Amino acid sequence: MNHSATIHHSRENHVAVRRHAGTVALVTGGARGIGAGIVTRLAAEGARVTFTYVSATHEADALVSAVTASGGQATAVRSNSADRAQVREVIADVVAREGRLDVVVANAGGGTKKRVEKLSDDEIDRMIDVNIRGTLDTVRFSAPHLREGGRIVVIGSVSAHHFPDDVTSIYGMTKGAVASLVRGMSRELGPRGITINNVQPGPVSTPANPADGPVGDTLRATIPVGRFGRVDEVASLVSYLAGEEGAFINGASLDIDGGYGA
Ligand SMILES: NC(=O)c1ccc[n+]([C@@H]2O[C@H](COP(=O)([O-])OP(=O)(O)OC[C@H]3O[C@@H](n4cnc5c(N)ncnc54)[C@H](OP(=O)(O)O)[C@@H]3O)[C@@H](O)[C@H]2O)c1
Repeated sequence: MNHSATIHHSRENHVAVRRHAGTVALVTGGARGIGAGIVTRLAAEGARVTFTYVSATHEADALVSAVTASGGQATAVRSNSADRAQVREVIADVVAREGRLDVVVANAGGGTKKRVEKLSDDEIDRMIDVNIRGTLDTVRFSAPHLREGGRIVVIGSVSAHHFPDDVTSIYGMTKGAVASLVRGMSRELGPRGITINNVQPGPVSTPANPADGPVGDTLRATIPVGRFGRVDEVASLVSYLAGEEGAFINGASLDIDGGYGA
């Protein structure tokens, strides 16, 4: 993996570290929210990024245009993480098109927050299909393509271990499952020089969980720093883990939540 950190002097004379220069990255669920922040950050730092989406065609096109206009490289592919064949296909497509794969971010996910008895069978299946099986498939189908220095980052949730309400049992269960997956797979991948880690956000303002949404004030009152997180803050942690500097962090679940889960 080419981690050589070249220094890029932008027109504004800011100095940006090209942490991911020469690398190829795949981000699932990258058209909006946290995923879009990760795509933007990795591309700004030199990665050639492919990201998936399901329905947000307009947002996906706009993100590709924005990354391209900033001098980066991004490709959007419609691919449903809940569909095993589509997960296989998009990974094969990246490897065929780019000739390599260095960084994989399994971000696609979400959930319906209701008491267990109020959730429909479909709502439960969807959380399991996308958050658990989609993440597992993204990880296991991409791992064979990664070389020494390769990086996998899963976007879990602080809900894996923090239950401040009575509507998060199933969503939290799915995020607990990926935390366990990451711990176990760190043993399998570490000897190949590949790390796998789990980033667990607390409330982060996105289309799925807007800071000014119906539960915004209630949630904010429970976050010690008094605000929602921003997608660029999560993207910054992902970028660090995905770079050379993150090489000794493996099998970790890292909360990024303003103290919400403390
Ligand atoms: N926001 C938070 O407060 C928060 C907190 C903890 C953890 N998380 C986790 O962070 C991740 C991103 O959340 P977010 O808040 O950014 O969500 P979001 O605003 O709903 O964005 C999710 C993105 O994932 C895509 N996606 C959803 N299901 C997919 C599927 N089956 N296959 C491929 N792409 C899919 C969506 O694509 P389309 O738009 O095309 O449907 C969208 O681009 C999720 O795993 C979520 O559980 C979020």
